[in-house]
Amino acid sequence: MTDATHSDDENAADDGSFGRYGGQYVPEALMPALEELEDAYRRYVLENEDDFLEEFHRRLDDFGGRPTPLQRADRLSGRYDTEVYLKREDLLHGGAHKLNNALGQVLLAKYMGKDRIIAETGAGQHGTATAMAAAHLDMPCTIYMGETDINRQRPNVFRMKINGAEVQPVTTGRGTLKEAISETMRDWAATVEDTHYVIGSVVGPHPFPSMVREFQAVISREARSQVQEKTGRLPDAVLACAGGGSNTMGSFEAFLGDEDVDLYAVEAGGSSLSVDEEAGVAPNSATLSTGGEGVLHGARTKLLQDRHGQIMESHSVSAGLDYAGVGPELAALADEGRVTATNVDDDAALEAFHRLSTDEGIIPALETAHAFGYLEQQRDDLGDLVVVTVSGRGDKDLETVIEETEKRDIGNAPDMSLFSGGLR
Ligand SMILES: Cc1ncc(COP(=O)(O)O)c(C=O)c1O
Repeated sequence: MTDATHSDDENAADDGSFGRYGGQYVPEALMPALEELEDAYRRYVLENEDDFLEEFHRRLDDFGGRPTPLQRADRLSGRYDTEVYLKREDLLHGGAHKLNNALGQVLLAKYMGKDRIIAETGAGQHGTATAMAAAHLDMPCTIYMGETDINRQRPNVFRMKINGAEVQPVTTGRGTLKEAISETMRDWAATVEDTHYVIGSVVGPHPFPSMVREFQAVISREARSQVQEKTGRLPDAVLACAGGGSNTMGSFEAFLGDEDVDLYAVEAGGSSLSVDEEAGVAPNSATLSTGGEGVLHGARTKLLQDRHGQIMESHSVSAGLDYAGVGPELAALADEGRVTATNVDDDAALEAFHRLSTDEGIIPALETAHAFGYLEQQRDDLGDLVVVTVSGRGDKDLETVIEETEKRDIGNAPDMSLFSGGLR
């Protein structure tokens, strides 16, 4: 399946800004790399030079398993008295939507003549997808990952290693995604000549937010035609969880022009929406709802920051949503009111994790579970036909789920006593 090509980016201004957000706030040393990437993105992705898009979609289909199904969730539809359809990105190779972008960027790096790949990862899903794409396309690959995330996402660290990637632990700060991105940017600044940085979300300096959205747009382009084929109409609402925002932007892109389709970005409400300015801690990752404007990782966007502009520590039970920033295009769409920014807390996400597992036989990633937590809470206000993107599967989260379920009173969880202390 090949998407129509178009020679300019319809969403971004020429300088890569989205209203007041976006841009290229990077050290001088990175500008040549960004200019080279901008040129390659325009030629190969937007103008389909050398039939790049045919190769991208052929590999996404054959290696990745696209198209992914759009499935009616029978039990949830009955429970909410609403037609609920699931866009099953958890069935994409690697177990999350991340491969759409990773494969696109590693392939683009090949077309650009680069011979080394670097990437950051939070939950390990982007790192795993990049390691898989790099192995598939025969490119050496180094993944930077915070130590906290290494400890809570160990199966993914192992997956990266057996796919031949080198995993570099990042020990600065809290050892999560923010520090991993900073470290990867540092590597890139020193190695731009031969290295491509595969950023894992719609964040970072232009052209990354546009390019990653374009690679992820396959989700909504498929979902939009699948939902019409199955139901004869467009949905009333599309729900997707948001960390940096690649799942949301990919799930929303094809629906942006459909004014009657409401778009909901569900962030991590963590343990509380209040912040401790003195300690520099926000016990959530609800950047769109609670953040302020600032610059992080090369772009002006919304951030969790204190009044001096220092980035705060974020928190979420799900590593992939645990990030103090958000993509600039998503921030602009939320400001405009085209996307509704919302969030659910850790408890609601865990409940939703157990509900989807028990009722539908689908074990979702903890990131994904946030979207289902919102569905449960807002069931009466979302209309008669709702599409929810299942951004990933939850195998990577099983240890965390045991630990976090034991700590709380999660009413719908099965008896976990047999697994006290973990899976081994
Ligand atoms: C399954 C899954 N969903 C969502 C996310 C959040 O990232 P993004 O907002 O870029 O989609 C992640 C990040 O690791 C993830 O693994």
